[in-house]
Amino acid sequence: MQQKTRLPVIWLHFQECTCCSESFIRSSHPMVADILLDQISLDYTETLMAASGFQAEEAMKNTMTKYKGEYILCVEGSVPTDADGVYCMIGGKTSLQILEEAAEGAKAIIAWGSCASNGCVQAAKPNPTSATPIHKLVHGKPVIKVPGCPPIGEVMAGVIVHVVTFGKIPELDGMGRPKAFYSKRVHDTCYRRPYYDAGLYVESFDDENAKKGYCLYKVGCKGPSTYNACGVTKWNNGTSFPIQSGHGCFGCSEANFWDNGRIYERA
Ligand code: SF4
Ligand code: SF4
Ligand code: F3S
Repeated sequence: MQQKTRLPVIWLHFQECTCCSESFIRSSHPMVADILLDQISLDYTETLMAASGFQAEEAMKNTMTKYKGEYILCVEGSVPTDADGVYCMIGGKTSLQILEEAAEGAKAIIAWGSCASNGCVQAAKPNPTSATPIHKLVHGKPVIKVPGCPPIGEVMAGVIVHVVTFGKIPELDGMGRPKAFYSKRVHDTCYRRPYYDAGLYVESFDDENAKKGYCLYKVGCKGPSTYNACGVTKWNNGTSFPIQSGHGCFGCSEANFWDNGRIYERA
């Protein structure tokens, strides 16, 4: 029986908190183990690979040479461009140098999370390191943005499986996000929406309306201006999402959400 070659993947980490990786490894449908063992060959990732140091660097170099034009480059984190990039260096290279080298032979690039897609908290004012999202630094390659802080694990897995299955990137919206997961606002699929439409709101987190599960708009929910799949796909194997646990959406998948308005104030 002929063995199908797994899609080579290089996964870089720059200015980030690693929760995008944490989210990805919790995907249950599809199971992340199935993706890692059957669909892709995760040749380089600082957080999950067994190798370290020179061996790890060698693995990345081998993939870049052997699979030039074929591998997928995943990036978690933003790139600091201030002070010649010294704020984030790995193996003696700046993150910008590493990104440029790895992007050159990549078939496509996936920008994981709000850090890589929009800059996230590192880029919040005054953005002391000039944290920059990936699409502003890489040119001539398709960049798939998968925003969220972190993105939903099943969404991340779904994007990878789409690329493996169809051999091309998923259909993107005007901002570079996969339409399948980012075409609706959290507000459009929120189960509390009937309360919003009826004008029934939580006024403070401990009031009677909160106990009744009314709409969280007046306590800062940004669901009406946030595009993400949380209301449908949910988190933790489809168990819940922020609004279901009683907290408004704070817009973690939107650009500049740290600067766009305070978390507990109405948008
Ligand atoms: Fe962490 Fe959020 Fe950045 Fe992902 S997007 S690495 S969860 S700070
Ligand atoms: Fe919309 Fe938020 Fe109210 Fe849900 S809780 S209906 S997302 S404003
Ligand atoms: Fe983020 Fe809002 Fe979903 S805060 S996790 S986009 S409900």
